[in-house]
Amino acid sequence: MVSWVREELEKIGQAGLMRKTVPVERAGPGRLMIDGRSLVDFASNDYLGLSCRQELIQACEEGARKWGCGSRASRLMSGTLELFHHLEEKTARFKGTEASLCLGNGYIANSTMVPALVGPRDVVFLDRLCHASIVDGVLLSGARFFRFSHNDPTDLERLLAKYRKNYRRSLIIIETLYSMDGDIAPIRQITELKSGHNSMLMVDEAHALGIFGPYGEGIISRREEKKPEVIVGTFGKALGSYGAFAACSTDMKTYLINRCRGFIFSTALPPSVISADIKALEILPGTSEKRKKVLELAGALRNFITKSLNRQTKGQSQIVPLILSDLEETVALERFLFENGVFTRSIRPPTVPKNAPRIRFSITADHTERDMEKLQALLLKFFSAT
Ligand SMILES: Cc1ncc(COP(=O)(O)O)c(C=O)c1O
Repeated sequence: MVSWVREELEKIGQAGLMRKTVPVERAGPGRLMIDGRSLVDFASNDYLGLSCRQELIQACEEGARKWGCGSRASRLMSGTLELFHHLEEKTARFKGTEASLCLGNGYIANSTMVPALVGPRDVVFLDRLCHASIVDGVLLSGARFFRFSHNDPTDLERLLAKYRKNYRRSLIIIETLYSMDGDIAPIRQITELKSGHNSMLMVDEAHALGIFGPYGEGIISRREEKKPEVIVGTFGKALGSYGAFAACSTDMKTYLINRCRGFIFSTALPPSVISADIKALEILPGTSEKRKKVLELAGALRNFITKSLNRQTKGQSQIVPLILSDLEETVALERFLFENGVFTRSIRPPTVPKNAPRIRFSITADHTERDMEKLQALLLKFFSAT
């Protein structure tokens, strides 16, 4: 092995930050099988449990049978199957925008769309907790950028007032629901600021889709009149499949087809996946009971963390962080839960701040009251022993 690679691995290991993939099998709704043991899975983003739904699986099978396994090339090279247009029309209606463009996944969407929207003469203002795919897109764009304090419109306004005027285009980027804190952006205030400071707004709804909104369309309602210039959504989380979209105006879609390198230079998603995405959008309006259940279970867990454990949590969503201050304790808790039949992942720096490692509980519609009771009993046991 090249010597610097081993040195780097040693450093990662010594800092207690080594990441590893864990071999798992599916073991029924909300369960995983690891080394022959069944565990309750609190680590997935399959918030509505759609990934194993028969209708989606059938749609996948039919898609592959009718149109083949792969899409053979980028859509600009080999033509676009009608299926893609069908999904894009459906997604645009779902988000209440003129148009929508399908992209490989959320990472590709964010990292390659930002450089299409801004370049070295421009400026980006992004929330400090924006996902790595957004940060990478900003770095790739060559634009000057400023990170404002998390969910803090006052700090954003200060930065806009100071720096916006020095640049050609300005882009504000936020998520509607933050994946490590489970909290929701002050979208109205940020929309006002964008209008007042002649900026564009790009919003990532990856974790809000499926769970928020009367039809599961996310936090930006399909009826909202003041829409962001681009709304990014992913099909790989609550929608149970794979891929991403940018919901936007017709002009913006045409522009992205011409300038977004992740669209131009990448093979289109396979027909099986597009078929499952379409099916997920069809199923979604009928899942309001599941949405309600997920948010209720999550609310009860947050209450338990603050009142019974006297620990810190955050947010108003299906993502419930248990925020600790000590990395060793966080890893010990992950191990304790694992040994007792609960699968969670500790979230460590640099994904979260150094002094706020955490266990991220991701609540899904497949979880039962008994699963939640088991989790709470284990948490009580762990903290009363430490
Ligand atoms: C906020 C956010 N945006 C984008 C992505 C990337 O989406 P995908 O998994 O489809 O690549 C993630 C992934 O976790 C995310 O949390």
